[in-house]
Amino acid sequence: MRVFSALMLLLVLRPAELRRRSRSGEGEAGGGVRGRGRAAINRRQTQHSQCKEYEEAEEKYLDCQDRQLTTVMQDWPTDIHHLLLARNKIQILRDNMFSQFTQLKSLDLQQNVISMVEERAFSGLSRLTTLLLQHNSLTTASEEVLLPLSRLTYLRIYDNPWHCQCSLDSLIRTIQVPSNRYLGNYAKCAEPLSLKGQKLKDVGVDLLCADSKPGGGGQGGQGGGGGRLKPTSRPKMDATSMCHTYLFPRPMLDCSNKDLKSVPSGLHSDIVKMDLSGNTIRSLRPKQFLLSKDLKQLNLSSNSLHKIDTASFSGLLYLRELDLSNNSLQYFHYGVLEDLYFLRKLSLDRNPWMCDYNIHYLMYWLKHHPGVSYSGLVCSEPAEFRGWRVEDYVKTYNGECPKDKQTDLEISPGGQGGENEAQEVVGETEGGGALPQPIQKKPNRIEIIRLN
Ligand SMILES: *[C@@H]1O[C@H](CO)[C@@H](O)[C@H](O)[C@H]1NC(C)=O
Ligand SMILES: *[C@@H]1O[C@H](CO)[C@@H](O)[C@H](O)[C@H]1NC(C)=O
Repeated sequence: MRVFSALMLLLVLRPAELRRRSRSGEGEAGGGVRGRGRAAINRRQTQHSQCKEYEEAEEKYLDCQDRQLTTVMQDWPTDIHHLLLARNKIQILRDNMFSQFTQLKSLDLQQNVISMVEERAFSGLSRLTTLLLQHNSLTTASEEVLLPLSRLTYLRIYDNPWHCQCSLDSLIRTIQVPSNRYLGNYAKCAEPLSLKGQKLKDVGVDLLCADSKPGGGGQGGQGGGGGRLKPTSRPKMDATSMCHTYLFPRPMLDCSNKDLKSVPSGLHSDIVKMDLSGNTIRSLRPKQFLLSKDLKQLNLSSNSLHKIDTASFSGLLYLRELDLSNNSLQYFHYGVLEDLYFLRKLSLDRNPWMCDYNIHYLMYWLKHHPGVSYSGLVCSEPAEFRGWRVEDYVKTYNGECPKDKQTDLEISPGGQGGENEAQEVVGETEGGGALPQPIQKKPNRIEIIRLN
């Protein structure tokens, strides 16, 4: 009863309070916001734009994703470091649109409908290091827009229909400067037809303004050694044009359900989580993930995987979670799992595991990596073992062996290096301090490939 009357009281008071607040609204907008403290600001946000403000590692984020916004609001807090505006309806970036956010380090504008960037759109953003404009409708932009961004290190502009003409010349020249190696990667020309599919990084800049200045032989110098035109390169499925990448809250690549027949090329090196589930990938080829050195979670479930090459997972030293469920795997080739040093979770459900000699490698590896929790290892073939747990099948195979002597399972001879190798790995991957602990002994020597 008491609860009920409290509720009633709230219902009565609420509208009155709101009315009072909106009446005094104009006065506040003038300046008093700062003085009213954090709580007041948060309340105003939820009232006006429903952005989420939060703090992580002492940096302030304002998350305004998926909110049908067409511009930024004047009442947003200005002391934020990261502004997330992905998946809104912004069309034009106006002059000085962000100039009040002087502390901004990253600005995520991906997946809007931006078709124009005014020349001073980014003025005031002298601390910005990361600007995300991928998946928009930009056709042209000049280098001028980047001038205020003296600290810009990462610029993503792929999946925009760039017109590779004279008006884009200065921007292309800028991103082709060798030291700007993280600016404009993967962006491609949509027009003219002769340059369609060419990467902005590779376009021959001297050609761009050739038409508009007839007879102009070598104006502007050789701008980066002449474009490397690759007329016969076959069309590849490029992760950047097919999948969505997100930098926040974690760098992630979502390539699920895209009808991919193979792992796409052009995978970003900073991705932590990669979802390739629900495609029709049939096999994994060597070193496909070699550059994805930060990957912690890889989802390959619901594909048509029947073959995983021995070196497929090489380089994935920090992978923690691997989902291979709902595929057509019958066994793992010897050595496939060797680089997965810190794996914790392995999903193997719904695969037609074949319980014969080939399956022993998997069981052997699991036995030596007790920190890995796995699921779904059930024999599907041959008929006599169908429905058995693979573990039980392997036990019958080694039926006579007493429990502790089952190490003769080892399939091919290799140094019983044990802990020494674990230490080698830690030594190799510089720093050491922050590394997770290796799981246990390794059956064989593994090769460490230095990535930087
Ligand atoms: C992998 O993707 C499938 C389908 O989207 C999902 O059900 C599953 O939970 C994912 N696995 C992991 C480990 O996140
Ligand atoms: C398993 O994968 C097939 C396609 O290979 C898909 O149609 C089916 O929905 C998946 N099943 C589950 C439970 O994810």
